[in-house]
This record gives sequence, C-alpha cells and structure tokens, in this order.
Amino acid sequence: MARIRKNKKLNRIGITGVGKDLPDYVLTNAELEKLVDTNDEWITTRTGIKTRRINKIHQEAASDYGARAAKKALKDAGLAAKHVDLIIVATITPDMQFPSTACLIQAKICAIKAVCFDVSAACAGYLYAISIANSFLSSGMYRNALVIGTEILSSITDWEDRSTCVLFGDGAGAAVLEPVKKGGILSALLGSDGTAADILKVPAGGSLLPATHQTLKGRLHFIKMHGADVFKHAVRTMSHSVQQILDECGLKLEDITCLIPHQANIRIIDALIQRLGLDKAKVFINVDKYGNMSSASSAVALCEAAQKGRIKKGEILVQVAFGAGLTWGATVVEWTRRNSI
Ligand code: ACO
Repeated sequence: MARIRKNKKLNRIGITGVGKDLPDYVLTNAELEKLVDTNDEWITTRTGIKTRRINKIHQEAASDYGARAAKKALKDAGLAAKHVDLIIVATITPDMQFPSTACLIQAKICAIKAVCFDVSAACAGYLYAISIANSFLSSGMYRNALVIGTEILSSITDWEDRSTCVLFGDGAGAAVLEPVKKGGILSALLGSDGTAADILKVPAGGSLLPATHQTLKGRLHFIKMHGADVFKHAVRTMSHSVQQILDECGLKLEDITCLIPHQANIRIIDALIQRLGLDKAKVFINVDKYGNMSSASSAVALCEAAQKGRIKKGEILVQVAFGAGLTWGATVVEWTRRNSI
C-alpha cells in the first residue's frame, strides 16, 4: 500500500470549502418495481437504499453537475474561480473519452489558470483525487486545488438487470483544498489490486472491445458486477484501511468524531462498523437517499456531514472508500474549515 505521511517540511493542507449538486428527479423503489422484478422490501433489507437521484429531467452531463458543485465549494471557501491552481475530477462516467471532464469543468466555471486532469479509480476516485491534490499542495507546487467527484452512473446502468440497477444514482460533490495553519489532512492512504479487476467493470467501449453492434446487443457497455465478491472486498479493505491509517497517525477509534465510509450498501457499512467496533452514532450515512454514486458518494457525504455540523473545527474526520480496480483509500483530517492562510 502506498502512503503519504505528514512530513514536517511539507505545508499543511485542509479542506476549506465543500459543495454538492444532485439531479432533481427522485427514483423510488416503488418505481423500480415497475422496471424490473424487484420490490421495496428486497432493496431495503439487502441494500438500505430507498431513493436515488437520476439525471432524467434535464439530461445533463457529469461536467454540468460537477461545475455546479465546484462553484458552491468555491463560494463556501471564499475562493474566486480565477485563482484556482489545480482541478482534479474523479469520475468513471466522463462526458466523453477525451478531453477530460476536468478541462470541461474548468471552462464552465472560468478557472482560467488551473491545471486540469481526471482520475479513474471508481468509487475510491474522490479519495485518490484528494490524496493527489494534497501531495501537489503540501509540496508547494500549487497553492490550492478543487477536487470534484461527479458521476452519471445512470448512463452505464443496465436498467434490465435487477441485480445492479437498484444500487446506483447520479450526483456530484466538490471540495476546495488550501494551506491551513494547523490540522488539515493528517494522512492519506491508497491501495490497488488489479488482479481482481474482473469482479466489477464495464467490459466494452474501450480499446479492448470498441463499440460494435455485437457489444451493444450483448449489453457490454453497462456495469457488470459479482456483488458478493465486491461485498467481501469492501468490508475487508475498508476495515483494514481505517485501522492502518489510525495507527499511522497515532490515533485510536475513540479519537474519531465522524467516520464517512463509501455509501454503497448499508450492510457493508454495518459490517465495517461491527469489525471496527465503532459507535454507529459516529458514522455518517446517506446511502438511503442517494444509493451508490461512485466517486461522488464520498464528496457528497462530506459536504452533507459538514453542513449538518457532524464535524467541527479541531475534530477528527476519517473517510474510507473502495471501488472497482480494485481500488481503496482512506484519509484522516483534523477539520479546519475557514482557517486558510
Ligand atoms: N430484487 C429482488 N431480488 C434480487 C434483486 C433485486 N433487485 N437482485 C438480486 N436478486 C435476487 C438474486 O437473483 C438471488 O436470487 P436467487 O437466490 O433466486 O438466485 C437473490 O436475490 C440473492 O442475490 P445475491 O446476489 O446473493 O444478493 P446479496 O445478498 O449478495 O445482495 C448485492 C446483492 C446488494 C448486490 C450485494 O452483494 C452488494 O451490495 N454487493 C456490493 C455491491 C457494491 O458495493 N458495489 C459497489 C461498487 S460500484 C463501483 O465501484 C462503480
């Protein structure tokens, strides 16, 4: 596992602004019952999901939601778009193969001097992007960064496959990172295991299987998942990552004020809490409202946790996520909003 440790010579970097943007359309379990052979009771007990937001009314792209979330985060941080140095977008549903969604968002928000690129690490993408931005900023290479997780998962969801279509939603979240006087990101941990890539993927549409009539007929442009394997991987890597990153920071579970795990399934979150032995009251959960929004889940959850006052200045926040790749990541943050220098 690659790790970034706080070095005394490096700048301290904190999260100084957050924002989110979600589609208006609310897809309920009752409505899904009309699409596939499923029911509210199965979805609720197996996943904890009640509703998800879907890009249905306006048919916008990932960059549209990402740009609106970014503007809100910049406003929250009090930073003008023209002063943004770096934009990193985590997404597996970019507007198009290229150019990057980060460049498209740059144009939409007029962040004229920013350096922009995308990161592909599925549901762990936002924490990958935070970790990369933290490295760039703590070294002094750039002064601030906009990190965005934005997904239109409905565009790669097979609406005829009941085992996956009940799980996903669309949305975007963003965070502004800047130097802070104390606290900030204490540690960031990332991990990957490409040998298990097959358990969660969109098989076609890349250079391996370019789009053909055959790939379309085979529904190969949609998410394919071995749910039980993903479940086991998620619980194992997230619990291990939380324990490891706390050890690195010299912190204990009792020191955590708020844990934000990836919002994929309430049973995964419950299993994680049980393994860790953590008080559930400390865990932020919104999977019931939004389902799994891949990279946007961690970003939106952080925004809501901050806005609801679940994490305050000086308190310890832990975020942990897992995703296709396989990928996983965790961060420990001493909360320092509106304390930038
Ligand atoms: N409604 C009703 N029945 C269903 C549905 C549904 N929507 N989906 C599956 N079933 C049925 C299955 O066909 C199966 O029936 P059978 O026993 O007659 O064969 C039964 O329910 C049990 O199916 P399982 O797949 O064993 O159900 P499980 O309890 O494992 O739950 C789930 C499935 C929810 C997908 C779970 O495995 C899970 O959450 N896995 C993790 C998924 C995840 O986190 N993905 C995130 C990554 S996404 C990313 O990175 C982009």
